[in-house]
Amino acid sequence: MSQPADTATTVGKINPDVLAFTEGKDPVLDLALAEVDCLGTAAHVTMLARMDYTPTLFTEAQRRAVIAALRDIIAEARAGRFTITAADQDVHLAVERRLTERLGDLGKKVHTCRSRNDQVAVDIRLHVRNELNALDGELAALARALLALAEAHRDVPMVGRTHLQPAMPSSVGMWASGYAEMLLDDGYLLEAAYKANDLCPLGSAAGYGVPLPIDRQLTSDLLAFARPFHNVFYASCARGKDEAILLSACAQVMLSLSRLAEDLILFSMPEFRYFTLPRDLCTGSSIMPQKYNPDVLELIRAKAALLVGQATSANVILKALPGGYNRDLQDTKELYMEGLRVTRASLRILRLMAESLTVNPDACRAAFAEPGVFATDRALELVAQGMPFRDAYHQVRDHLEELRGMDPDAVIAKKTHLGGTAGLDLGALRARADAYAEAAKSRQDKIDAAFAALLAD
Ligand code: ARG
Repeated sequence: MSQPADTATTVGKINPDVLAFTEGKDPVLDLALAEVDCLGTAAHVTMLARMDYTPTLFTEAQRRAVIAALRDIIAEARAGRFTITAADQDVHLAVERRLTERLGDLGKKVHTCRSRNDQVAVDIRLHVRNELNALDGELAALARALLALAEAHRDVPMVGRTHLQPAMPSSVGMWASGYAEMLLDDGYLLEAAYKANDLCPLGSAAGYGVPLPIDRQLTSDLLAFARPFHNVFYASCARGKDEAILLSACAQVMLSLSRLAEDLILFSMPEFRYFTLPRDLCTGSSIMPQKYNPDVLELIRAKAALLVGQATSANVILKALPGGYNRDLQDTKELYMEGLRVTRASLRILRLMAESLTVNPDACRAAFAEPGVFATDRALELVAQGMPFRDAYHQVRDHLEELRGMDPDAVIAKKTHLGGTAGLDLGALRARADAYAEAAKSRQDKIDAAFAALLAD
């Protein structure tokens, strides 16, 4: 960070080194929060204007003037013209400065009954809500792409492995839809993170409320939160916890993606050739002309490590942190922003991969040349003829060569039980993916409608 020239901030004169150190990356990171900071301010001022209190804190005309100015700041932010100076320190003081430049004394009133602590807490929750809904859409899209891949190659036999050694006949349908189900289950964690995030901290102020009769339910409703936090002290302690929960859920998603990525790397090696990766999603070598490398998949493996690190960092920042606001919490901001960005980008890249992956049925079937992979199925055939399992096990183990030439297609067609190669209920998984995407979309529609109403003239 370059040293700020002007050290006379809105909240007093600060040693320039201290200012640079404490604001850290906020002047840059907080740009992502400019729009939601304006929305939080719009809800707060609307609530103050509706308060039954004498003297009147905000008249209706004053409220409208503030909302009009906030609309302009949002337009500036969308056009990339909103700036946060070093002296502002963060988006909250930058928006207040901008309002004061425009509205004079009226701008100086917007901070009535609030603190930057509840501003940053509400901003993050508003931001996370939008981002999570978009991320949920990407997760559902990847699950759908995997299910389409499973449907298209439902009956292509694929060697199932344990310890990476051939184990039992499986299918491309089972492999692809298994990852789809894994992701949809990770969705439960994202839903929990959403629920824990969907609470309004506004009115907590510095963490202990204010001595005026503010209406916290109203600000929560105006911003379309599920409800306000009950206890204002807890509302301020929940900063950081929110980010840690979110990152832990994203880390699980990334761990799933890294396993899918690893399988794709492995099974697209020439030695396997079950799959061919789309060439336009591979990268070349500067010296080896023949190369098409799976760099994106390797980066997804690495990004899973980053997410686990970000989740761990956020958790450890919270450990033994005293109750109430502490500046440590500022450092969870970059973690959650980066974690969300990376998770969303990874979901997107893998969807592109799943949509244009080539499956090579010949190579998949050729992998069944070694007869051992049929051993368990054969043993169970003997069981079906009345032989005790352990006897069948030994008999098959002593005569593995007799299994050579068994037909993998016939074997996978026999597993008709729920979730078996011939019992994949892809329709049920598709319905889950559709419902997941639909839920995210309807949540976001509700939020967008509330924001539009809040900013209406
Ligand atoms: N940028 C600060 C943060 O992210 C805003 C809150 C500052 N509050 C304070 N009491 N210093 O935490």
